[in-house]
Order: sequence, then C-alpha cells, then structure tokens
Amino acid sequence: MCGIIGYIGKPPVVETLLDGLSRLEYRGYDSAGIAVLNGNGIRVYKRAGKVKDLRATLQHQSLDGHVGISHCRWATHGVPSDINAHPHVDCRGQLALVHNGIIENYAELKAKLLSQGHRFQSQTDTEVIAHLVEEHAKRLSLGEAFRKALQELRGSYALALVATSDPNHVYGARCGSPLIVGVGKGEMFLASDVPAVLAKTRRVIYLNDQEVIEMSSSGVQIMTLEGKPIKRKPSQVTWNLASAQKEGYDHFMLKEIHEQPNAVEQTLFNRLASTAPQITFDRRTTTLLNRLSPDERIVILACGTAYHAGMVGEYMLEEFAKIPVDVDLASEFRYRGIPVDPNTTVLAITQSGETADTLAGVRLAKSQGAKILSICNVMGSSIARESDAVIYTHAGPEIAVASTKAYTSQLTALYLLTLYLAKSHGALDPKRWQELAEGLCRLPELIEKALSTERAIKLIARRYASARDFYYLGRRYNFPSAMEGALKLKEICPTIHAEGYAAGEMKHGPISLIRKGWPVVFLATDSPVYEKVISNIEEVRARKGECIVIASEGNKTIRRHADALIAVPKTEELFSPVIVAVPLQLLAYHIAKLNKCDIDQPPNLAKSVTVE
Ligand code: F6R
Repeated sequence: MCGIIGYIGKPPVVETLLDGLSRLEYRGYDSAGIAVLNGNGIRVYKRAGKVKDLRATLQHQSLDGHVGISHCRWATHGVPSDINAHPHVDCRGQLALVHNGIIENYAELKAKLLSQGHRFQSQTDTEVIAHLVEEHAKRLSLGEAFRKALQELRGSYALALVATSDPNHVYGARCGSPLIVGVGKGEMFLASDVPAVLAKTRRVIYLNDQEVIEMSSSGVQIMTLEGKPIKRKPSQVTWNLASAQKEGYDHFMLKEIHEQPNAVEQTLFNRLASTAPQITFDRRTTTLLNRLSPDERIVILACGTAYHAGMVGEYMLEEFAKIPVDVDLASEFRYRGIPVDPNTTVLAITQSGETADTLAGVRLAKSQGAKILSICNVMGSSIARESDAVIYTHAGPEIAVASTKAYTSQLTALYLLTLYLAKSHGALDPKRWQELAEGLCRLPELIEKALSTERAIKLIARRYASARDFYYLGRRYNFPSAMEGALKLKEICPTIHAEGYAAGEMKHGPISLIRKGWPVVFLATDSPVYEKVISNIEEVRARKGECIVIASEGNKTIRRHADALIAVPKTEELFSPVIVAVPLQLLAYHIAKLNKCDIDQPPNLAKSVTVE
C-alpha cells in the first residue's frame, strides 16, 4: 500500500518519476505527489487523485533537476486530500520525504515536536518524520540525522528523502515495507517494487529491514541504522518491461487472465516432466520436504485470494498426501494463539511476499520453531527471504489489483507439492500418481480452452450486469472456487454484493434471501458430489433464482438445470478449481466492464497490503 520512488541521475527527472509511479499505482491511487530538487531548492507538487491528475497538474510547470522523489498513496492516517498527499516537508521546506507504512508512535512524536516549535500542515503520521529529521539535523549531518530519526520510529516504513543541504544524494530506509534499489548507468533508483524501474534497469538490490541507504548517481551505500556499512551485490531480474505493460489489452486484469496458460506453464517448468515420474524442487525445498514426516502438521497461512488457494491446498494435501492440514487467515492466526512447534511446517501463500498479516504470521510461527515454506511470486520479497524454502510461482508481475494468474499458479504449486509429498510418503498408488501427474501437465492446454468461453461469458454478463446481488456456490474443491468467484466480482465491481458459500450451507440460512431473478453461479463440474450440487441448483430454481452453471464439457443433461451454461474442459476434480477460475474471472471482468467500473484500480483497495 502506497508506492514510493526516489531517483538521482539525468534530467528529465519528472518524466522518470511519473513513469515509474504509474507502474506502482496498483499500490495506492487516492493521491500522488512529486518533489524535485534543483539549484533553486525543493519544489513539491501533490494532489488528491491519480497519477494522471498529477501529470496534468505538472504539464504547465517547468521543473528541471536531476534528483527527485514521488509517491502514490493509499490513505491510512488522514483523508485523501492535497494536503495529506506526499511528499511531506519540514518547517522550512528544505527537506522532503515520501513514506509507505504506518508510524505507530506518531502522536507522541508529534506532541514533542510541537512543543519544540515545529509547525505541521497535514493529518498524516508521515509528516512527523520530516520534522524529526529537521530537528536532529540542527546538530548532525543529514545522514546521521536521518538515521537518528529512524531509531525513534515505531511501526513500518519504506522511505525516500531529499534535502537541499545534500543535493547529490537520495536517502532511503526500510522496516516492514518493501524497498529496492535499481542500479542504472549514471543513474540510480529507489522504489517499492521492481516494475517501477524495469524500463531503465534490471539490476536490483533488495533491501532488508533496518537498512538505510545513501544513493548518489554513481552508486549506493547500504548501512545499518547505526551506520555500519553493509555490502550487497545487485541481482538480475528476469521480468521484462513487456510483462509490466498492458500490450493492447483494455486492462491489466484481462491481460493477466489471458496469461494464465503461460503462467501455469512457468510454475511447472523444470519441476514436472510428463516423461519422468517425479517432481523436482530446488535443494532447500527438497531438504525441507524430505524432513517432513507424515504425522507432522502443515499450517497454511494466507490472505484473500491466496487464502482460497490455501483452502484448495488443504483438501488436496489431506486427500492425496494424507497429511493433516489447517488453513488459517493470517490476520486471525497471528492473534489467536494456535499452537505451532518444531513439528509444524507453516506454508505461507502470497503473491507479493509482502502482505503484512502473512509476514507477521510467518515471523510468529518462526519464533515458535516452525519451519517455513512459502509459495510466492515475487523474488526477493520479505516472506521469500524469511522462509526456510520457497516455491516460486514464476507467474510474472501481477499488476491488476484483482489476483488472477497468481491464484492459478499458486494452485499449480500446491499440486506439485501434493504430488511430491504423496510420492515421498508412499500415500498414493504409482499408477494413480502417474495419472495425476499427466493431468497436471495438461493444465496449460486446458486453461487455454477455458479461455475460449469468453464469448459466451460476454453474453451472460450482459444478461446479469444490472443485478445487485450474486451468490456463488460449490462443494468440496469448488467451495473455495465459489468464494474466489464472489471475491473477484465484489472487488472489481463495488456496486454489486456477492457472496460465496459451500452449496450445502444454503439451506442453513442464505437461501432465505433468494427471490425471483437473483443470480446464483453454480460450480457443477464432474465430481463425486455432482448430484448433490444438482439438488442445490433445483432448490434455488424452486425459489425462482437464476442459475448460471459452470459444468464439464460433454454433460448432456445439465442444460435442463441451467438458466445460463458455461461448459469448461473436463478434468480431474482436484484440478477443476484452476479451470473454473477462468470463467469466474472473465464473468467478473465483463460484468464490471459493463458497469463501467475502474477494473484495475477498484476503490478502497490496493494490491500489496503492507499495513495491518
Ligand atoms: C484479491 C487479492 C487479494 C490478495 C491478498 C493477498 O484479488 O488480490 O485478496 O490475494 O491481499 O495478497 P498476497 O498474495 O500478495 O499476499
């Protein structure tokens, strides 16, 4: 939540900062701002609204300079407004900073600074940092003052700071919020995430918590809060710029939905070959998994869509690998005292690797001796680095706020994990294992076929776009799919209320709401509970609800139960959550498009939830 950028190098700095900022806008988009440093001091422009609004404001300004910082905001303290937008400055306007995170002790710091005569302009927690640095800089050099101020902060931050007293440096620091350094030729970047710098460089240094940087146009010095130097070499990022651009699609979400065959193929790549009856993971993952005994417990931690992947993971690990699994929302796990110990393996599932609750859950479990395995998309992210082993999904950057390809590639990683453990624990007959492995290899091809439902889905979307409530129902492996389908719709189409339930739960309450024309999306692909789902469909139809049914191709009888039908490729039941995810995502997308919603940047949301 919130994106920050710092830049030092060549003019035009404004264009560089705005371009990078537009690639970070998925992190927050209620306000944006920029500060540029040149021989005439610091000039700050900021306003409520999106990066395009800031760009329009800047159009008539001539802002030269070779150093600057910028920010896109997701409000925590203080409503979205011009004043509360970042950058924030000190009393004299001689230093400016941008911040991602929350300063928990800001009220007490602010009271002290007010008593020392500092004047505040905004309601934000961030502004205290500017004044705190200003206060310390009365006695110390800027770098020392910055570090001294950081030592007084409680909470989370990624920061970038510029000051007129030191025009040849950008200062930065991280604690609990992501921050990377992009290493260019004669130019250097500081950013919340890699896509912000991809147009300029693929050489990146990942910073750790409690690290501070001093960046010039020719290099960067990394140090501890106490100023002790740290050496770290840049890594080469494999993502390219094209993967962070829309490439002709109307929205990132649609592009990412269509990227799923490739994303899943990347997750499988080098890990499963149809010819060899085995799953291969990297050395650390293999070591961790080989130490896991069948009576050991796995606790899956995740939030949102990743939690839905975790729910499917629980079903498959228990059914095929015979390992007891608990799946918990990370935001609950961290506060409810669930016992974990060295006999527990915690499996954290996260696209960004930065979700605050998941990270806190991982840290808590680690402190109690649990081993941490993560399924993660972003290399070098906090959770990836704090895990004992990582299964990277390699899905490429996911920019749209609504998670699509990250979800199906997380499921794919869970299939790999399940098959690996099923084999190493001898839990599955080899012939059955081989059948499942072959089914898994075919997933990219089946997703491609599922994408061809888009034309039919556009028509269905038109029919139901004006509905204001939806239910999504499924059983067993597709109960999580129902939750995920509902989440997709409500997050990108905020005028619609959608809920996902286990179909068998309808009669315990939710069915009372069904009335004429209420759309209910049913997941009725082939499974041992198919007939039970049909009974649930009939229960809804008896109350005049409208049933949009997603069923397996070749099902000749389903039409008579469906008001609208989406036929998807046949597959083993455990793989069906991947296949049905595609029409669920497309349905949400096209309904949201017809409702003229801001699909890639829905109100009140941000992609990477780095605050509690
Ligand atoms: C929904 C969505 C969120 C994320 C959740 C976890 O489409 O994107 O629910 O799934 O915030 O994020 P990660 O996977 O980055 O931990």
